[in-house]
Amino acid sequence: MLGVGGASTTLASLQFPDDVDSVLDLGTGCGIQALHARRFARRVVATDISERALGFARLNAALNAVDGIEFRLGSLYEPVADERFDRIVSNPPFVITPRAPEVPAYEYRDGGLVGDALVASVVAGAAEHLVPGGTAQLLGNWEYRWNADGLERAGDWAADACLDAWIIERDRLDPARYAETWIRDGGTRPGTPEFERLCAAWIDDFVERGVTEVGFGYLVLRRSATDAAPRLRRTEHADAPLDGAAGLGAHLSGALAARDVVAALDDAALRATRLQVAGDVTEERSYWPGAEDPSVIVLRQGGGLRRELRADPALAAVVGACDGELPLGVIADAVAELLGVDAARMGPELLAEARELVIDGILQPAP
Ligand SMILES: C[S@@+](CC[C@H](N)C(=O)[O-])C[C@H]1O[C@@H](n2cnc3c(N)ncnc32)[C@H](O)[C@@H]1O
Repeated sequence: MLGVGGASTTLASLQFPDDVDSVLDLGTGCGIQALHARRFARRVVATDISERALGFARLNAALNAVDGIEFRLGSLYEPVADERFDRIVSNPPFVITPRAPEVPAYEYRDGGLVGDALVASVVAGAAEHLVPGGTAQLLGNWEYRWNADGLERAGDWAADACLDAWIIERDRLDPARYAETWIRDGGTRPGTPEFERLCAAWIDDFVERGVTEVGFGYLVLRRSATDAAPRLRRTEHADAPLDGAAGLGAHLSGALAARDVVAALDDAALRATRLQVAGDVTEERSYWPGAEDPSVIVLRQGGGLRRELRADPALAAVVGACDGELPLGVIADAVAELLGVDAARMGPELLAEARELVIDGILQPAP
């Protein structure tokens, strides 16, 4: 039984804080995600393969006087066959473990499948258990293989399931460091013969699939409201450590909504839109001593994913002028004139950048 760790609190902060009817917490463990989810849902179904975990989760719900959570025993989506939810949250047992008899299997962290297939199956199942427009917030692991980018593989799982996907990689480890981390987590001390034996088993397993690195991070998924093809596929590396960051869910939920607004606009409509720079954004300029113009301009986000984005002078000027009063096109034309560049040439690139900045949460549609 896993206690509340860094991964648990990160997923809790990643949960969207928008009110919904139903949430599924898959692999509830001590129940932390289900308890958190219940703050925003009328009912929560919490599942686990472990009777013991469900006992703890029930106890924690009772101790916190939280009702409205139904606890069900079973593997993956078995306990909710034929049911759909507004939201799925899961910190699944994603630890990649060699399927060899001499390697101990730990139910709290290992779903018993080969490589990262457990996370792939949680993603695939999400499509069948979300209502149209429903979202999932998951933690996961993905293998980089000698001929395949790990983040893109994770993006493919979602695309194959026809889900919008926003996947953020927090960390990446080489196979040896990954193996050592999880062997230590299992209580085996480095330097012992057992440690060496387990390391060898992990490396053999990684070699079999050509694994070069293992990524870890967050998956935000959404089933299209209209069953149209997935419209969003965004994979990225986090600029800053996000463990314990508060309000990630609110940030990502807002960014998805803002993204939908700008995605529905063609370039002409976007030019007519008033945008404003988010309140947590600051700008940092670095100059060579004595230079008039900055050598580097960085837009820094204080909350959300705490992004650090390099901006050229034109983009920085446009962002700086976005105060919600003037349409984006008017600002872009004025900046082009000021900098002496051709507005027609600068325009399309700048609009594409503005679209990305809206998803990033740096710019927002003005109210
Ligand atoms: C990493 S823990 C997450 C616990 C808790 N949700 C949290 O966020 O801290 C994974 C949980 O998944 C459960 N589990 C393992 N295999 C499972 C399976 N096949 N189906 C459902 N749950 C499973 C484990 O018993 C464990 O409680």
